Amino acid sequence: MILVGVDGSRAGLEAAGWAAREAALRHVPLRVVHAMPRWALETGDEGPYAGVARWMRESAETVLTGGVDRALREAPGLEVESAPLPGDPRPALIKAAADADLLVVGNHGLGGFVGLLIGSTAHGVAAHAPCDVVVVRGSSVPPRGEVVVGIDGSAANEQVLRFAFAEASLRGVRLRAIHAWRPFEVGGGFAPASDDLAGEQGERRLLGEAITGWSERYPDVKVIEETVRGHPADVLRHAAEGSDLLVVGSRGHGGLTGMLLGSVSQAVLQHATCPVAVVRVREDA
Ligand SMILES: Nc1ncnc2c1ncn2[C@@H]1O[C@H](COP(=O)(O)OP(=O)(O)OP(=O)(O)O)[C@@H](O)[C@H]1O
Ligand SMILES: [Mg+2]
Repeated sequence: MILVGVDGSRAGLEAAGWAAREAALRHVPLRVVHAMPRWALETGDEGPYAGVARWMRESAETVLTGGVDRALREAPGLEVESAPLPGDPRPALIKAAADADLLVVGNHGLGGFVGLLIGSTAHGVAAHAPCDVVVVRGSSVPPRGEVVVGIDGSAANEQVLRFAFAEASLRGVRLRAIHAWRPFEVGGGFAPASDDLAGEQGERRLLGEAITGWSERYPDVKVIEETVRGHPADVLRHAAEGSDLLVVGSRGHGGLTGMLLGSVSQAVLQHATCPVAVVRVREDA
């Protein structure tokens, strides 16, 4: 099941549309949810706040209906259900995601301020949801038919590549696998090397090795491998411009212990111009 959060904003509707197309591709149902204060859900038709509570429930219903309509417009015939959730959006979505395959949200919502690149709900669920998360951004140009994946050489890459290959295959598009590296960076690349040329070759070979097994499993997916010099956040943001989806792990190998969202993932969530998938990297992997 794919879960999508809507809040009445345009970005939330974009998220519902994206989630519906994804659910149709995966042949799974979609669940549209909207978080609202618990008291308004639990207040009956008696008492001083009954009118306000009813009004809030009706508003929530309108928001949910908007999300369901958008989903069905994008994917007619899709199995869609909707429900209000009690509580603040971030914890409510995280809890509801316990039995979801994927949680989809917009990059911002109704709150926030001009210039805010990512809202607190979107950022919070990307860091804390128990499942993979896609943060959707409405784009004015149609995507070019490509999934971009960032590979840093950490153990997490297997999980990130599994997601990226599956997405490229589902969409019938090519996969661009990018490894950004900086010479002499300790622990930042696959193989710190003595000189630039050796470094470049080493990075390229190790990227190829990371991908080979997956290419065999997905012979239908055309893969473009790129090793690019530069900061991973910049490299990935530029490479992913105009793509269908940018896939990153929730953590890489530079992450501090206990950090839930790596700095590259945080940066691309803020600055990417396409939808971003944050693959939940499991500790035990
Ligand atoms: N009450 C909610 N119920 C369900 N989903 C929500 C709710 N609020 C936000 N979302 C989801 O999260 C996305 C991002 O909204 P978010 O709240 O992060 O941004 P914002 O409202 O602009 O900023 P902030 O709330 O931090 O001031 C929305 O597009 C929507 O998908
Ligand atoms: Mg909000």
